[in-house]
Amino acid sequence: MAIPTKHKALLLLSHAGSYEIRDVDVPMPDAGEVLIRVEAAALNPSDWRTRHTEYSFILPGYPAHQGSDAAGVVVALGEGVTRFKVGDRVLHQGSYSNGEKLAAFQQYTAVPTDLVAKIPDNLTFDQAATIPLALATSAIAFYQKRLEVDGGGGAGLLPFWKEGGRGKYSGKPILIFGGASACGQYGIQFARLSGFSPVITTVSPSNMELALSLGATHTIDRSLSADALIEAVKAITSKPFHFIYDSVSSEETQNIGYDLLAPGGTIVILLRSAVKEDKLTRDKTILTCWGSVHLDMHKEFGAEMYQHITKWFEIGYLRTTATEYVPGGLSNIPGAQERVRSGKVGPRKLVVHPSETI
Ligand SMILES: NC(=O)c1ccc[n+]([C@@H]2O[C@H](COP(=O)([O-])OP(=O)(O)OC[C@H]3O[C@@H](n4cnc5c(N)ncnc54)[C@H](OP(=O)(O)O)[C@@H]3O)[C@@H](O)[C@H]2O)c1
Repeated sequence: MAIPTKHKALLLLSHAGSYEIRDVDVPMPDAGEVLIRVEAAALNPSDWRTRHTEYSFILPGYPAHQGSDAAGVVVALGEGVTRFKVGDRVLHQGSYSNGEKLAAFQQYTAVPTDLVAKIPDNLTFDQAATIPLALATSAIAFYQKRLEVDGGGGAGLLPFWKEGGRGKYSGKPILIFGGASACGQYGIQFARLSGFSPVITTVSPSNMELALSLGATHTIDRSLSADALIEAVKAITSKPFHFIYDSVSSEETQNIGYDLLAPGGTIVILLRSAVKEDKLTRDKTILTCWGSVHLDMHKEFGAEMYQHITKWFEIGYLRTTATEYVPGGLSNIPGAQERVRSGKVGPRKLVVHPSETI
């Protein structure tokens, strides 16, 4: 199929403002990049957070391109590209900082090949589109080293894909808040691959089976009060928690997690810290993880991870989150985004097909 010169992109016009679909130039792939026709793009809470809240600082300006999760087909190669060919099915993470090229909420996008992975045959475009942001965020949270930049980075665990990494944390407990969230689902799977035991997670009762099937050993009803939740955790294990992953990161979960963390331990959160000042101690580390492989601090880590992604899903080390297809292409992203914002979508990702945009 010939590549058009113009394509449709969804643009956010201002902070907390409306969206507009515009005809814009199809980006040209530079050396080392591939041009991808986006077949499926998934929505994330970060879309509405960067649109409506203080996290808009992540956007470089307006009109802003958004969309962190994309799967599609390679349609052109930049100079020097040998790892991919035209027709390959691929996935990649979008970025807000250079949206014209990387963003997912558009019909074509250009991406550096070291941050692109082939989609294994056992995954559809919709399934593949659910992977990039949640996988990268949890991988960074667990396995990226601690970084002095922005108080962030990750817990610095030995990656499960490195020699000695598989099962390394056998016998050590882990607590994961939000085992049904996309990030939490990868957190559980990483905990399983890294050998943690017990793997304790908080979910709604309807998602307990899901969490157990991913590798959790114990589930706790997320609606328990803080005191009851702490008691429930302590009833499962008396071992100290040296690593807690909070993929919810509400004020409540952060404070419960901090209370349960052992001295010397690390809690990785995905939003800004809301741990009460009066309980902060030097003994316990809180890290905010910024889950983009396009950030300079994570590019090298991301490129290493992208070499393995295809295989992980092909051989069943990892499973994607469930999908829900939203018809109407880019035009229906604003409505679908309201559903994500309401917190009522559950343990699945909403996926659109940009080619269906009218
Ligand atoms: N820092 C970063 O780079 C970064 C990257 C990705 C995401 N995030 C943030 O991380 C959070 C998770 O993102 P996501 O995409 O993984 O979310 P998601 O898939 O949209 O999460 C939805 C699930 O969260 C669960 N949940 C909500 N409140 C909970 C609570 N108090 N306890 C336990 N589970 C709870 C619900 O589980 P049940 O259905 O079981 O109730 C729900 O199904 C969001 O706030 C997002 O903005 C940050």
